[in-house]
Amino acid sequence: MSVRIAVLGNINIDFVMEAQRPPKPGETLRASNLRMVPGGKGANQAVAAARLGAQVTLIGRVGTDVFGQPLIQGFMREGIATDFIRCDEQAATGAAFITITPDGQNSILSALGANLECTEQQVEKAGEAIDRSDMLLLQLGVPAAAVDRSIQIAVDRNVPILLDPSPLGDELPQLWRRADIMVPNETEAAGLTGVEVPDIPSAVQAATQLGAQGIAVIIITLGSQGCLLVDTDGARLVHSYPVDPVDTTAAGDAFAGALAVRVAEGATFNEAAAFANAAGALATTVVGAQPSLPTRQAVEQFLRRHGGVQEATIEEL
Ligand code: RIB
Repeated sequence: MSVRIAVLGNINIDFVMEAQRPPKPGETLRASNLRMVPGGKGANQAVAAARLGAQVTLIGRVGTDVFGQPLIQGFMREGIATDFIRCDEQAATGAAFITITPDGQNSILSALGANLECTEQQVEKAGEAIDRSDMLLLQLGVPAAAVDRSIQIAVDRNVPILLDPSPLGDELPQLWRRADIMVPNETEAAGLTGVEVPDIPSAVQAATQLGAQGIAVIIITLGSQGCLLVDTDGARLVHSYPVDPVDTTAAGDAFAGALAVRVAEGATFNEAAAFANAAGALATTVVGAQPSLPTRQAVEQFLRRHGGVQEATIEEL
């Protein structure tokens, strides 16, 4: 039986352009290959989990403009339950403007619009969906009060919580330390702990600090290096897989969605992290957020080509 994942998070339409480099202040630069693709961290993680075989409910908000309904229809085609996505009469659908450079790196400007109108009341209405889930998957693209309400519901009903603290702004949910698993990248780990993370030893230090705050499992994503996993078994580096990246957008979302699915399925954290690394690596090989999110079959084939999850290189630290 498929596992059930509830996702509360932001839904965007992404405007993606390719350029030699991001523009400097006051400069107009030529870009090419404009694409409009579905994105938003919450939506990307929901789609990632659905493509990997989970039954997903997405809680979020779009506008009543030209983007809102097509995005919802897209989720329905992915088999995602959309009962708790509201259409806001006043605010525009969230949008992101993304520049991709030839090395596959991106810069993103995001206008969160309707996402910022998600309320505690909206989350309460979705309480039953959180209650019957095997995992609540969160990011920070909706207001902290809404995230807090979902954490409280999950804690009350013993639903494990996976928090991707992105985008990390000034206001953190008060209950963020109640997350069971946290998946910051290097910048977010530094923002949360004050420990700069340029290398593995500093990542261990930042993760240990987060652990001391009460988070049981901390996984710091380290791009092409893989991820650092710290739990009661200690610290280890789970190496990633070599790919030729064309666009790193949503690689972190593929990672978080995949990790949520495999942990909910009962995999060990080592196995789940190796699977998530494979999903993240594959997501960098296609341009655009949701177009790049791999299916279960694609991840499993990729892992077989690389020796399988059991063969993932895991270095005890
Ligand atoms: O994580 C990638 C996402 O960040 C993009 O899809 C964009 O919408 C921004 O929210």
